[in-house]
Order: sequence, then C-alpha cells, then structure tokens
Amino acid sequence: MRPQRATVAEIDLSAVAHNVGVMKEFAGDARLLAVVKANGYGHGAVPVAETALAAGAHGLCVALVQEGVELRRAGIEAPILVLSEQPIEQVGDLVAHGLIATAYSTRYIDALASEAKRLDVVGHEVHLKIDTGMNRVGAAPSNAVELAGRIIARSPQLSLGGVFTHLATADSPDPTETRAQLSRFDLALAELHRAGVDPGWVHAANSAATIAHPDARRDMVRAGIALYGIAPDVSMTPLCGRLRPALTLRSRVSYVKRVAAGEGVSYGLRHRFATATTVATVPLGYADGVPRGLGLSGGQVLVAGRRRPIVGVVTMDQLMVDCGDDEIRVDDEVVLIGRQGSESIDANEWGSLLGTIGYEVVCAISARVPRVVV
Ligand SMILES: Cc1ncc(COP(=O)(O)O)c(C=O)c1O
Repeated sequence: MRPQRATVAEIDLSAVAHNVGVMKEFAGDARLLAVVKANGYGHGAVPVAETALAAGAHGLCVALVQEGVELRRAGIEAPILVLSEQPIEQVGDLVAHGLIATAYSTRYIDALASEAKRLDVVGHEVHLKIDTGMNRVGAAPSNAVELAGRIIARSPQLSLGGVFTHLATADSPDPTETRAQLSRFDLALAELHRAGVDPGWVHAANSAATIAHPDARRDMVRAGIALYGIAPDVSMTPLCGRLRPALTLRSRVSYVKRVAAGEGVSYGLRHRFATATTVATVPLGYADGVPRGLGLSGGQVLVAGRRRPIVGVVTMDQLMVDCGDDEIRVDDEVVLIGRQGSESIDANEWGSLLGTIGYEVVCAISARVPRVVV
C-alpha cells in the first residue's frame, strides 16, 4: 500500500557515505565499525549498513540478535558485533548467524561455547567487554584475565577476537573521566599482555571519542551518531562541521485556516493568539515521534522558507503551526528536521528544547513514518 500521507523521513545515503569518510579520516589507522542498532538510529538499518560498508566501514554493530539477523537476511556478510550479552535462549541464533559475541560473564561464555559445539562451529569470535567506569555492562577490570582465559580455554569453539570498553563522557568538554576510563582500560590490557593473552582488536571509541580523543581510537572505533550527521552533543557542533545530516523529516500542509485574536489552539487551548493569524495544520504528531510538548518548548518548523512556531500541544497525528500573515496553501512543504532554503533545523535543536539529545529524537521517529531513501 502506498503511504497516504505526505509525511516521510527522507534518508540521504550519500550523506551517510560522506560521514563514513569523515569518520574514517578521524579514525586514522583504526578500522571503523558502523553502529546501526535501533534500525540505524531510525534511518533504516539495512540501507545504512550497506552504504557504510560500501564507503569503507570494516563491519557493523548492533544491540540485539534480531538486528544482526535482519542484516544477515539482507545478505550482509561483513563482521557484525552484538554490543552486549544477550538472553541465553538467543545465543544459538547469534552463533548460527555468525554474529560476533560480546561477553563479560562465565555463564555467557559457557553458553556460547556449548552452542558453538552443538552447531559444529569452530572459532566463534567473542569480544570481551570491560567496564571501566560507565557501570552499565561489562566485566570488572580485575576479572579481565580470568574471563579472557575462559574464552581461550573454550577453543576450538571460541576465539578471543577483541577487547573493548565504552566511554561515558566522551562527548563532554571535560576530558577527566574519559582519561580515567582509558587509563583503567590500559591497566587491564597490560594485565592481559602480562598473562600472555593476545587481546585481538582493541576498541574504545564511540563517535565523540573518535572525533575528540585521539588516544581512544586504538585498533577500531565504533561510530554511530556521527554517521547520521548528528553531533554527539551540542557542544561538539563546531568539531562536527564536516558531517552532513542524513535525515529530513518532511510533510505538507493538510489544512489552512485564519484564526481570530484571542482564540486558542489544540488540546487544552494552551496557546492563545495575540493577533489574528493563519494556522497551518500538518499531518504528523506524537504517534510519529514528534514529542507532544515540542511546540510549548519553542519548537519550530520550516514553511515557505521561514521558521514558524509549532503552536499548542502536538496531537497524536497532527500539529499546528502559526504562519502569521504568510500566504500558506494546502500541500505547501513543511520541514521539521532538515533544510529548506537557507534555513535548517537539526535533531539536536529539538534535543536542546526538550532536554534530551539528537539520538533520542531520531530514534523516536516511529515506524509509521515511511523511510524514503534518496
Ligand atoms: C557500546 C557502544 N559502542 C558504540 C556506540 C556508538 O555510539 P555513538 O552513537 O555515540 O557513536 C554505542 C551507542 O550507544 C554503544 O552502546
């Protein structure tokens, strides 16, 4: 069935390819893993993955086994790292589809080994994740030698292909915590070396660290947000000037009316017009991923080449825009995220208004919005 609304998320794959090139330059000699979890941060995992690989990414990262399986089913044969341990009942699928495992517990290593044995797989690649301070997932640095030894001892089913950590504050202008994490990581790596363990690929950097912390780049970097052309944090915008946003959230005016001074708009009539104005209705709402409070927080759209405020609360399927005295017609283009004429709005602008980050904004664009590759 063809989409019935004009609301689409356009994905510019040439921007993704360009951003891969920019991040490869930052990465220097390190290989680049393109992080395409959460449906490629809302951009469409398969087309982004194919584009990133064609542009020189060495492999991919996903959060879930099902995300890796989707890529395999699309015919992608490149290395795919699943970034955390998964439910034990999914380990069979992970091994069967040749997804690189992340491990940080004996139970999980043993489950990987027994599934590899059952499936007659030799040398299934496992990366050991060390938690150096983020306190989300990962082994304590003091357990690294024991866990690496356990993976190696499970040869020939398993092989230790890498050791990595994840940085909690690489996007912050203050480098203190990143330096502390990297030095804990280095101590753990030194202990592995002392124990005679070859760690394989060593990696630590996300997008922010790849851009701003040369010491984090190591053998590989895992870049996500930058590949989509979004700065990891607003404070990094100047460093991200060469990145090109890949996503445009676009719609068209579905209805236009003139509203008198003193009238209100949308549920609760929480916005009232001081003067008579033209109100355009746009067919997308919070069920599409536009937060209900965006207008009340100062959110704007681009229409007729100008910034115009979203007024009142965003409703489930529609939002309203104050167009002043502009001549607006049904079907006029409305850009919510992206460029129109000389104006542009990026995901981090929404993030700043809403107390969140560009990552959440693009991931929240719902499945109801068709992704159109351009
Ligand atoms: C373990 C891990 N590595 C890398 C990334 C990519 O991070 P970014 O999108 O900031 O580049 C993520 C994303 O959350 C992650 O969880």
